[in-house]
Amino acid sequence: MERLTSPPRLMIVSDLDETMVDHHNDPENLSLLRFNSLWEDAYRHDSLLVFSTGRAPTMYKKLRKQRPLLTPDVIITSVGTEIAYGNSMVRDDEWIEILNNKWDRGIVEEETSKFPELTLQSETEQRPHKLSFHIDKSKVQAVTKELSQRLEKRGLDIKIIFSGGNAFVVLPQGGGKGQALAYLLKKLKTEGKLPINTLACGDSGNDTELFTIPNVYGVMVSNAQEELLEWYAENAKDNSNIIHASERCAGGIIEAIGHFKLGPNLSPRDVSDFLECKVDNVNPGHEVVKLFLFYERWRRGEVENCETYTASLKASCHPAGVFVHPSGAERSLRDTIDELGKYYGDKKGKKFRVWTDQVLATDTMPGTWIVKLDKWEQTGDERKCCTTTVKFTSKEGEGFVWEHVQQIWSEETEIKDDSNWII
Ligand code: GLC
Ligand code: MG
Repeated sequence: MERLTSPPRLMIVSDLDETMVDHHNDPENLSLLRFNSLWEDAYRHDSLLVFSTGRAPTMYKKLRKQRPLLTPDVIITSVGTEIAYGNSMVRDDEWIEILNNKWDRGIVEEETSKFPELTLQSETEQRPHKLSFHIDKSKVQAVTKELSQRLEKRGLDIKIIFSGGNAFVVLPQGGGKGQALAYLLKKLKTEGKLPINTLACGDSGNDTELFTIPNVYGVMVSNAQEELLEWYAENAKDNSNIIHASERCAGGIIEAIGHFKLGPNLSPRDVSDFLECKVDNVNPGHEVVKLFLFYERWRRGEVENCETYTASLKASCHPAGVFVHPSGAERSLRDTIDELGKYYGDKKGKKFRVWTDQVLATDTMPGTWIVKLDKWEQTGDERKCCTTTVKFTSKEGEGFVWEHVQQIWSEETEIKDDSNWII
């Protein structure tokens, strides 16, 4: 969050399973990829992305390996009981202090073990401030009542959340996704970085709290679970700051950005001809997002107007510009584009996708920008990532000129095989 010097334009706080990630209807992650390019294109540089998931950190990391998730600025895991920041996921210890209030894990363990209706979830989902069970829906009310009373008698102040039609979690009263969001907003406010707009996105019972935080817009994706929709019907149906989207998962998030007029909502993935796309002269990150989308389409054999596009791309490269391939090989930028020509459609039918993450531009000198990003490429189940650095120049009133591109294998890439890696 340090990179922001002023209040973020938009903070998105989104659940992952069945909200960002569609586990049922979108095997190619198309709506997530649409969201990703919108975020990197229009929001990354001045906004904050927060994921808030019921998963514990290990299971979150597993999901990141399976799906094209962006790197969030803040990651809230284990139903709002763990908060971490940045790429390296630096833990918020102050939050842990707050959660320790009237909490004793041992006592919760002891009392819950007396309920045969509760079966423990996997070991990975048991956390210092979260005990996770499965339960039959019909038993929820009775168990909640009885267990709350017993724990109260033992001096604890806890919260029980039912979610996903069968999950039952016990947390400290101060925990949960809503409290974690309120804490984050308070922290940002003290730093003078309270977001101009905040949008909470969810699909299930443990997301309910997100929709109760003041001054936060909310979207329940179209595929929201019954328990969340019931809560909404009973408690929030007159609140025009919360909508039930008509689109599933990440598509519903994009829909809400448009509905609440929070900023641009046209994903570059929804633009079929980039030549018609107006050049945004303020943000050179846009050029990079566009290039790698074009690259995906090129290798999938989906580009119309091929020659015109490559010609315009070539014209925007400095004649002496160099591309440094992750193998270390160097070639002129213009030759690289010619080389790309040979690969048109070579990934047709191969589940080939390309996406960019953490696209950030800095203007080093007047008229010169350095854009850094992670470029991901996936064919079938195999994915690779290169940290990419691009130098651009721009003269007043003219478009951006590509001066230099350098790629190195990212640590996240396990097999550093550079054959078949073009740009
Ligand atoms: C996630 C967690 C699980 C929890 C559920 C509901 O699915 O993995 O432990 O019970 O969210 O909050
Ligand atoms: Mg969910």
